[in-house]
Amino acid sequence: MKRDGNMESLWQHGMEQYQPVNQWNRDEIYDVLIVGGGITGLTTALLLQQSGKKCIVAEAHNIGFGTTGGTTAHLNTTLDSSYDQIEKNFSKEAAQHIAIGLKETLVMIEKLISQYNIDCSFSYQPAYLIAETIQEQQMLETMVEATNRAGVQAAFVPHAPTPLPYRKACMIEQQAQFHATKYIYGLAKAYEQEGGVLLQYCMVNNTAHDEYFTADTSLGEIKARKLVYATHIPPGINLLHFRCAPYRSYAAAFTLRSGEYPEGLIYDLKDPYNYFRTQEVDGKKYLIAGGCDHKTGDDVNTQERFRELEAYLHNLYDIDSIDYKWSSQYFNSADGLPYIGLLPGHTETYTATGYSGNGMILGSLAGIILCDLLMEQPNMYADLLSPSRIKPIAGFKEFVKENADVISKFIGMRFSYEKVSQLAELAPGDAVLAKWEDKKVALYKDDNGKIHALDPVCPHAGCLVAWNMAEKSWDCPCHGSRFSCNGALLTGPSRKGLTSLLWEDIEGD
Ligand code: FES
Repeated sequence: MKRDGNMESLWQHGMEQYQPVNQWNRDEIYDVLIVGGGITGLTTALLLQQSGKKCIVAEAHNIGFGTTGGTTAHLNTTLDSSYDQIEKNFSKEAAQHIAIGLKETLVMIEKLISQYNIDCSFSYQPAYLIAETIQEQQMLETMVEATNRAGVQAAFVPHAPTPLPYRKACMIEQQAQFHATKYIYGLAKAYEQEGGVLLQYCMVNNTAHDEYFTADTSLGEIKARKLVYATHIPPGINLLHFRCAPYRSYAAAFTLRSGEYPEGLIYDLKDPYNYFRTQEVDGKKYLIAGGCDHKTGDDVNTQERFRELEAYLHNLYDIDSIDYKWSSQYFNSADGLPYIGLLPGHTETYTATGYSGNGMILGSLAGIILCDLLMEQPNMYADLLSPSRIKPIAGFKEFVKENADVISKFIGMRFSYEKVSQLAELAPGDAVLAKWEDKKVALYKDDNGKIHALDPVCPHAGCLVAWNMAEKSWDCPCHGSRFSCNGALLTGPSRKGLTSLLWEDIEGD
């Protein structure tokens, strides 16, 4: 299976591409079209299909291509937004509701695994939060009190399975972990067993809504009564794009000389925080570690982030080999909780985004909420997490118009290959934002020495993309769209790739 980056994650290892079996009936008007085949899309699709809806999933690449294939696969009943923050930003009741919702989600995941015999190494684990400084200790004490108030048991413990020199550690029981892509392959299979249709390499370009939705896709028209964007962040320009910020996180899976791997999910309290857990894949144990997060597009030299992570790990562990390194994207919401429900300004289009670093549990919770909303059943978390809690931004319409103008910058301009190669003094594998008269050009030299020249203006809302050296992608710092080194769209919210500026590429199409 492929992922939205150049580096192989642990979850890609040994995973052949999923092969759907059910046929798409092109004449059928489906009940729900779900765009996106990650954990959110496949959980939603399976739950809806189980409830009697006829669903069709359209994934632009292979399933798990997005952040589900690049996660570190923790399942927590505590979030990156700690319960004291949720109490502060919302209320004590809200914190309790979230705790109930996360516990219910964990039970649902376990139930699906047992119902459909999904072999994905699911296990319950204790989580440990580690305070190394006095300030962190104070933070931890506040967090532990609020966590217990919310209804999740957290207690200080004398020992934690980590070489970190901690002052205090707390343990939270009944957290969990699994093999992320094996889990979603199991969901996809179960969904098909229930009669659902799954299309891979099916890019949804546009949708029109009349009596029902007609989606213009790379495989033809799909008709459906309701629409769910399970694309990590919805496409198009929406208020949600101004309330979610894209971040990158870095992970490594490595082996230890001692052969002794810690049990449990371990987190420090730094900002950004570091995390550790053990995973066995094909009989081999790995310690997974992650951290070094930063805003998408803020750091071109993403290789340096891996070096930083490795140096940190070598200080802590006697490492035998680092077998996998990868990075992935997540979206932080403005108030710390995800947005799940109707897309603001729409009546039949649903979405889920803003999961922070808790995509596996919140993507699954989104499945429960979206299924209830689409089945017109009550859901106790729907109001709290509704995207419509966002207030419209003054001047939003003008903003959209202005940015639509920026996009036309390079339109109609094309360069010959010779002209562009004069611009670029690049080593193979390198990229640069070069200057062309008063404009910028995104240049990348591939391993064969061929230069790819692109308009660096993101087609979504007109921001300039930045190079991601490790994953060899052009990343947009504004709302997180990502593009391959030759401009192809990797992840939205853009619906289009970057424009090539070479005559040769256009003619060769
Ligand atoms: Fe919005 Fe690029 S993702 S401008």
